[in-house]
Amino acid sequence: MSQRAQAVICREINQPVVVEEIEVEAPQRGEVMIKLSACGVCHSDFSVTNGTIPFPPPVVLGHEGAGVVVALGEGVTELAPGDHVVSSFVSMCGKCRYCQTGRPQLCDQASKAAYTLPDGTVRTRDREGRPLNVFSGCGVMAEFATLHTDNVVKIAPDIPLDRAALVSCGVMTGVGAVVNTARVTPGSIAVVFGVGGVGLNAIQGCVIAGAAMIVAVDTNEAKLEMARTFGATHVLNAKTEENLAKSLRKLTAGGADYAFECVGSGEVVAQAYAALRKGGVAVVVGVASQKDSTTIRTASLTFEEKTLTGSYFGSARPREDFPRLLALYRGKRLKLDELITRRYRIDEAPQAFADLAAGRNARGIIVF
Ligand SMILES: NC(=O)c1ccc[n+]([C@@H]2O[C@H](COP(=O)([O-])OP(=O)(O)OC[C@H]3O[C@@H](n4cnc5c(N)ncnc54)[C@H](O)[C@@H]3O)[C@@H](O)[C@H]2O)c1
Ligand SMILES: [Zn+2]
Ligand SMILES: [Zn+2]
Repeated sequence: MSQRAQAVICREINQPVVVEEIEVEAPQRGEVMIKLSACGVCHSDFSVTNGTIPFPPPVVLGHEGAGVVVALGEGVTELAPGDHVVSSFVSMCGKCRYCQTGRPQLCDQASKAAYTLPDGTVRTRDREGRPLNVFSGCGVMAEFATLHTDNVVKIAPDIPLDRAALVSCGVMTGVGAVVNTARVTPGSIAVVFGVGGVGLNAIQGCVIAGAAMIVAVDTNEAKLEMARTFGATHVLNAKTEENLAKSLRKLTAGGADYAFECVGSGEVVAQAYAALRKGGVAVVVGVASQKDSTTIRTASLTFEEKTLTGSYFGSARPREDFPRLLALYRGKRLKLDELITRRYRIDEAPQAFADLAAGRNARGIIVF
């Protein structure tokens, strides 16, 4: 049966999000309907609303959701009504060369269907019956959503769903960039540029990996304070620092082993790369606009054996990594409670987006 639901939608680029009642269709073969409990507001949702991520509107936003399965489509055997689940904004077909080689974050099926379900169609319609796109197979900033099981990960029922939601983007992306992509080693020096919802988790990842020095760089003083509570050993304000590159070089005694760009700007990518010592690794986590580019000194790649790489979804294997992250939370070695600065009702979604843009939250989360 289809279901009416309030949903947060980007109707027009550069306009505030709107909350509308939509129709969520019953799950088809291989799909499930989820009743959402919570959905985090990620900068990538905001990036859809300003055109940085070019998904054609109207789009139901949300890719950091958690809830309970309420209906099964034909052929679904691995999930049952009542199961606690989180969304995965990459679908994992299990068959393409990336899935087959342990890199489901690069699944071909996910890159082909960026703003629909994996089969290229949607289960979401507005009141006039017109189809609504969804954020990366998800569209979980809504009371109900129908997702393919390739975009759903079952989790243990003891974890509060608002905390579990965060794992499905911000936490996985930040921690994963450190432990999966860069594989930070104990005792190393790391710098994290941009300590919002994702960057704070890169800081936590560095703590888990045993980095000796963890430097947070941001333009927002309040974020730098948060970074300290998440484990940053040093902080630098990029706005007030007279010569950021020089200060970083001095602080790190010659350069960092690892640098993480969690902003989404070519300029900051260049800063991250420049902050490395010989043999260092810079990881681009932020999502820049398609028009953005960066410049690095080519010879430094050769003579200094530096690496510049990207990290999508923390190079996650979600079915393996989500339970691991939740186990760290249970063991009090991963902070999730502290990530939630503010909870919003769905009708307060425009405020949640405004607060994200103004840098007021570690993470804002919509609870249903
Ligand atoms: N790679 C992925 O799979 C993935 C997943 C989720 C989000 N993202 C991207 O990661 C980025 C961060 O997302 P978020 O949700 O943490 O956003 P956020 O808005 O919570 O945090 C961004 C932080 O960057 C800081 N910042 C802005 N300009 C800066 C500068 N010049 N130097 C240093 N800091 C600066 C802001 O003050 C803020 O604290 C976005 O681009 C988002 O789209 C990528
Ligand atoms: Zn996200
Ligand atoms: Zn695949």
